[in-house]
Amino acid sequence: MDEKIIIFDTTLRDGEQAPGASMNHQEKLEVANALANLGVDVIEAGFPISSEGDFDSVKSVAKSVKGPVICGLARAIKKDIDAAYQALKSAQRFRIHVFLATSKIHMKYKLKKAEDEILRLAVESVKYARKFCPDIEFSPEDASRTEKEFLFRVVEEVIKAGASTVNIPDTVGYTYPQEYGSLIRSIKENVQNINKAVISVHCHNDLGLAVANSLEAVNNGARQVECTINGVGERAGNASMEEIVMAINTRKDIFPGVKTGINKKQIYKTSRLVSKLTGFVIAPNKAIVGYNAFRHESGIHQDGVLKERSTYEIIKPEDVGFYGIGLVLGKHSGRHALTERLKTLGFHLEEKQMGKAFARFKELADKKKEIFDDDLVAIVEDEIATVKPLWQLNSFEVASGTGVSPQATVRLKNKGKILTGVSSGDGPVDACFKAADKVIGLKGELLDFRLEAVTRGKDAMGEASLRIKIKERIVFGRGSSTDIIEAALLAYLNGVNKYAF
Ligand code: KIV
Ligand code: ZN
Repeated sequence: MDEKIIIFDTTLRDGEQAPGASMNHQEKLEVANALANLGVDVIEAGFPISSEGDFDSVKSVAKSVKGPVICGLARAIKKDIDAAYQALKSAQRFRIHVFLATSKIHMKYKLKKAEDEILRLAVESVKYARKFCPDIEFSPEDASRTEKEFLFRVVEEVIKAGASTVNIPDTVGYTYPQEYGSLIRSIKENVQNINKAVISVHCHNDLGLAVANSLEAVNNGARQVECTINGVGERAGNASMEEIVMAINTRKDIFPGVKTGINKKQIYKTSRLVSKLTGFVIAPNKAIVGYNAFRHESGIHQDGVLKERSTYEIIKPEDVGFYGIGLVLGKHSGRHALTERLKTLGFHLEEKQMGKAFARFKELADKKKEIFDDDLVAIVEDEIATVKPLWQLNSFEVASGTGVSPQATVRLKNKGKILTGVSSGDGPVDACFKAADKVIGLKGELLDFRLEAVTRGKDAMGEASLRIKIKERIVFGRGSSTDIIEAALLAYLNGVNKYAF
């Protein structure tokens, strides 16, 4: 029987630490539920002591998300461990993850402590955490730059103190596959009690090697991999889950005897959700989940794929839940056809949501001849979003053109009331945002703005994404429509609603 590689997802903790990737409480819950559907084994839901918001998010993930072990991060400090326990205690199964740096550079400059003191704190904190639960993970931060003999001692002592998982982070993304693989092997060979704990790996991508390093570690005995969806994370990010899972799955010859429990068909959908909520756009050439990952442009390749897919395809797109942009439905398609197509795309909507999605589909089909999968996904993602917007667009008009000073009238719905704002601006989009600001009573500073066609054709849905700064907080917003000004306004309101939530 194949041995299972534990997939420890840290999208909600290390991933969310990426500048500008922050998600609100409801969004984190949505991601946690998607991760549970994806079949991850452990969800690191946050760092409870770091803020009240993080504490609350970890608490609600612990309370409502069933299936995976829910984990919370803590420094090797009692009050952090107490906070982690308080946030996690209602989970079916939970884990406390304690970390403390062990490299010379971190001990000297950051912690200003000597080896013996670090060892004592590590052991005491693990013993303390064990009072709350049996599932304790310990991370010697910056392990890949830690003196080996000291690392072996720390790992051995924390296992004695009760750690059931020892994580070996490459915190700064400095290591190289052979080097990291041999570090993992040396831990197996030099730490006497290592068979009492699972060896975990946690790699950052500063040199673009996070996935390669994690995979080499698996081949040298690591049995837990810490990773994030789309590789989001601090600086250059963390190891990308979809790449690790698909490498293990596709190259069984290189990874004999191991498997993951990931439901691969959920990969594409989860990746899109994380991209949508964090605002981190996926590069078209990103492995596994990029828009071009399964597209063949060269005539020779197309010819080969038509004759036999495996000539140029090592993964079937549908295996990761990618069904292409194929022309699917049109004006005359019924509710049953829509339901079936959505099921294929991995969406199971409740009756009421389906009713609304169908109405939106018909509306779109009136404007647009050809409806592609991505159009459907854009509609459905709006309908199933758990964040119910405080401010909704009722209608807008905008006048602009050569030699005309742009003027916008925007009507917004808030708690059943329609409120109107009028403004001029530097362009039609600016005028709309300013009119919306007048209604809402705030001033959002636009930091960046991007507009993309979601599908093909002149009538394609446009997707606007932007970042706005409202009173020192940066929020991300996204909106789609066949009208690009409306898409921009919807994206703006999406951001405002996140702020207001
Ligand atoms: O990169 C790192 O070292 C971490 C630890 C907290 C595990 O994220
Ligand atoms: Zn990290």
